[in-house]
Amino acid sequence: MSIGSAEGLEGVIAADSSICTVDGLVGKLTYAGYSIRDLAEHSSFEETTFLLWHGELPAKSELNQLRSDLAGAREVPDWIVGALSSIPGQNHPMTMLRTAVSLLGNGVYGVSDDAQEVRQQAVRLTAAMPTLVAIINAIRQGKPAIAPDPSLDHSADFLRMLTGKEASDRAVRCFDILLILHAEHELNASTFAGRVTAATLASIYDATVSGIAALSGPLHGGANEAVMEMLEQIEAPENAKGYVDDAFAHKRKIMGFGHRVYKTWDPRALILRQMAEDVGGMTGTERWINISIEVEKAVRSHRELYPNVDYFSPSVYAALGVPTELFTPVFAASRTVGWTAHFMEQYANNRLIRPRANYVGPPERSYLPLAERE
Ligand code: COA
Repeated sequence: MSIGSAEGLEGVIAADSSICTVDGLVGKLTYAGYSIRDLAEHSSFEETTFLLWHGELPAKSELNQLRSDLAGAREVPDWIVGALSSIPGQNHPMTMLRTAVSLLGNGVYGVSDDAQEVRQQAVRLTAAMPTLVAIINAIRQGKPAIAPDPSLDHSADFLRMLTGKEASDRAVRCFDILLILHAEHELNASTFAGRVTAATLASIYDATVSGIAALSGPLHGGANEAVMEMLEQIEAPENAKGYVDDAFAHKRKIMGFGHRVYKTWDPRALILRQMAEDVGGMTGTERWINISIEVEKAVRSHRELYPNVDYFSPSVYAALGVPTELFTPVFAASRTVGWTAHFMEQYANNRLIRPRANYVGPPERSYLPLAERE
């Protein structure tokens, strides 16, 4: 790893943070010191949220309080549903989500001096994001939006609003793990973009909009949708090798592979592969994971490239009945926890983030009036 390379800021340390560590050489990820494997096995979305916001696992009463705060903040006012419905054309859900979060932040300008108020805004963002994603889905399908049910936990209600039906306990647990795995990942592009915005003392809503915008691109969160498009194109496991050989021959990237930090297995990808195998078999959607495994073998026959978090998640989302265009918005809804954790950390010890560019343009020269230019 080169330290301080200007291109893409590879290896540059841009902040002190106690939220998350990624060791890309051994493939380790921890949230506030707890391994992602332990959290995926034992924690819940709400508990992980508390951990990321406060740096400690909650006591029972604290967890119950956060559960009820999140459940009570899911409703989205009708005027936002109306405004989103009035947007012309078929927009990608990520574009609509960016607009939706702007609307949610209506009336908030700049960051409050009161950390409690900012935390309430983080609760509001985290709680309302699933409702917004479900509203956007309903608008795109020309159906009425499904209202949130505060009696359900975060993941159960999110999955119900996305698919329109009550999911099994196993499916809900699977979705809960997905949200835990996507909740935080250090200074990834979207968190960094949002942290830069937060460091100007813009509001947590503004910083989240920056995060959503950065997440939407195919080199970041948008990769999960691009992976499903690739799997659909490949159609069957026996076509995988030909597809990969052709991509390498034409120097096309295989979506869902490679990572700026991980130079070995991303631990989240390993968990997701196992989950995809389990739920794919249960729901009759194993085609996606079967193709994914053949693509993975074919990629490794060309070079040492490992799957990232966006590679196996599409097979899990598909098994849970989540529509493809909602993969990245679901990622955004989960990452809202990590984003807001970072923004609150930034506000608590703020300094404007303002790096320098290495100027490689022309040397200073005299201004030529328009009439004298050829
Ligand atoms: N398919 C094929 N080759 C890939 C690749 C992929 N998905 N990802 C990286 N490589 C190759 C690059 O072509 C480069 O090859 P070279 O050394 O011969 O020039 C080498 O691996 C290093 O890649 P580089 O583009 O410098 O890595 P990066 O750190 O700048 O980019 C990503 C990281 C994630 C943007 C990149 O791996 C990528 O575009 N992956 C696909 C998109 C994706 O899945 N994004 C989600 C990330 S979580």
